[in-house]
Amino acid sequence: MMTRQSVFFDAAGLLRKSRLGKRLVCLYSVTSTNDVAWGEAEAGVSEGTVVVAEEQTEGRGRLGRTWYSPPGVGVWMSVIMRPQISSEAAPGITHCASLAAARAIKVVCPVEVSLKWPNDVLVEGRKVCGILTEMKTVGKRIDFVVCGIGINVNQKPEDFAPAIRAAGVSLRMATGETVERVRLFAEVIKQLDGLYEGFCRCGFSHCAAEWKAMCGSLGKRIRIRTGRSEGDVEGVFSDVDERGALVLRMDSGLERSFLAGDVELVSQESEAP
Ligand code: BTN
Repeated sequence: MMTRQSVFFDAAGLLRKSRLGKRLVCLYSVTSTNDVAWGEAEAGVSEGTVVVAEEQTEGRGRLGRTWYSPPGVGVWMSVIMRPQISSEAAPGITHCASLAAARAIKVVCPVEVSLKWPNDVLVEGRKVCGILTEMKTVGKRIDFVVCGIGINVNQKPEDFAPAIRAAGVSLRMATGETVERVRLFAEVIKQLDGLYEGFCRCGFSHCAAEWKAMCGSLGKRIRIRTGRSEGDVEGVFSDVDERGALVLRMDSGLERSFLAGDVELVSQESEAP
């Protein structure tokens, strides 16, 4: 029988100086790397352990969505963190991860990258990467965080499920070139290592300016699907606060902040600050 091997073992040599990724768990097929990482974290493994797989059979996205993770074409990974912060500050970890993925993509590929609140990385306005951060808390204290990162790397259009074909893109589709997944994987970890260290010292404010500069919808009129009984809320996306929450300026002039939801651009025009 042919053994199915993970290419990601080769990343170990690239990560010697990084605190995150000191221990790599490289698997071929898993339900979800977040599930495996959660089990590892419950078992007490050290901060910085990274689980990566060639394929996920039950990859998960935010809000109960499916994340299609076919074999050999993506980076499907989860990082275990044990930050000494209050759980209220945790959304900033998702922003660090999306910024790390965006930076890494720019290092490895000649593409324009932008960020979409809260957790998407876009290329050509389509989603190339998503983040799913899950955590275990004890009261207000965080026991551990599992930060899952999924990057569409070498898919062809037909590798996307029909329902997401229009909204998703891979780096190969954007550049016309096959991208080396091991190099991209190692670069994401290196970038996240530095951003996470800054986050633990200073919170999200450490990288907020860079995150906001890459966010295409900041300053524009948006609609938030809250997923709550109040439905959609419209206004101007005026800021991202120190917790990582989206600040929306309503037509009444009042500001509201949102920690979750889906953002849809209503107008490309920038509004007065
Ligand atoms: C989203 O955009 O809704 C989040 C997608 C997150 C996908 C990654 S792939 C690695 C990790 N394992 C999962 O099951 N999900 C995350």
